[in-house]
Amino acid sequence: MGFVSTPTALLKHDFHAYSAAAPQTPQVAPAPIVKWVGGKGRLLSQLRPLLPPAVDRMRHVEPFAGGAAMFFDRRPSRALLCDVNQDLIATYLAVRDELPSVITELQRLARDHSRERYYDVRSRYNTAELTRSQRAAAFIYLNKTCFNGLHRVNRRGHFNVPVGRYEKPKILNASLLQAASAQLSEADLRCTSFEALVALARPGDFVYLDPPYEPVSRTANFTSYAQDGFSQEDQQRLRDVYRELDRRGCKLMLSNSDVPFVRELYRDFRIDLVAAPRAINCNTSRRGKVSEVVVRNY
Ligand SMILES: C[S@@+](CC[C@H](N)C(=O)[O-])C[C@H]1O[C@@H](n2cnc3c(N)ncnc32)[C@H](O)[C@@H]1O
Repeated sequence: MGFVSTPTALLKHDFHAYSAAAPQTPQVAPAPIVKWVGGKGRLLSQLRPLLPPAVDRMRHVEPFAGGAAMFFDRRPSRALLCDVNQDLIATYLAVRDELPSVITELQRLARDHSRERYYDVRSRYNTAELTRSQRAAAFIYLNKTCFNGLHRVNRRGHFNVPVGRYEKPKILNASLLQAASAQLSEADLRCTSFEALVALARPGDFVYLDPPYEPVSRTANFTSYAQDGFSQEDQQRLRDVYRELDRRGCKLMLSNSDVPFVRELYRDFRIDLVAAPRAINCNTSRRGKVSEVVVRNY
């Protein structure tokens, strides 16, 4: 395959054009590199006006990073991103530190993609010894080709989502990966639970908390992001952390579903509503807009 590295070629023919040898200047704005359940991409226009004044001078902290839509949108010069999903954080580290190898691997995976190939890659991802960049490329490939971009693992920690029904999934977007890599180079990345914030957050930080949502009804289940769900006790512990960071002088913004339990937890703080498209619901009759709370301490 012949590589060319002019910016125009890079934009037009992403798949063929990336030169693994030459460092590139990002040509597009950074944005999430994975589809993520609960991703905030479609809510950003409603969330931006709710950011604190002078937020650009603050360190940006996201303890539930996921696809990190807010981080990529804000492009902070200092950031701390955390998530309990080890594979997600490892992927960000590889995209930040070993992008050429990740892209080379993704080019190969994209070229060979088929429904059958998906299951080979998934099996290797679950059982084979892969390098960090191979694993990150497989993570991105599986995310782009699996059913609904879900991340679900079984009890043994094996990724078990079936292949999605996409005609031509966009598996490799080299320009976007480059932009994300450059933005991630400003970030401290950690695989840790939100409780670690008590040790990590500093006065004057802007902290955006976007935990797994409290289900709106007993049948809706938005809690299985990693191996363990997020219980009501977790929501209560998170509220305690929120109070602690409030006392410390952090600026706090938290998203959750608009249910009485959440309103009660944060009744001492300012609560605004935003209208969100319902992300994933097997029952199509229940798709539509749903309101979410944004809890702020400023
Ligand atoms: C609603 S998603 C965040 C979505 C993100 N804001 C975005 O734009 O894509 C919630 C995230 O919290 C993570 N998570 C679940 N339990 C956690 C915990 N105890 N501590 C930190 N992160 C956790 C999940 O892995 C998931 O990525």
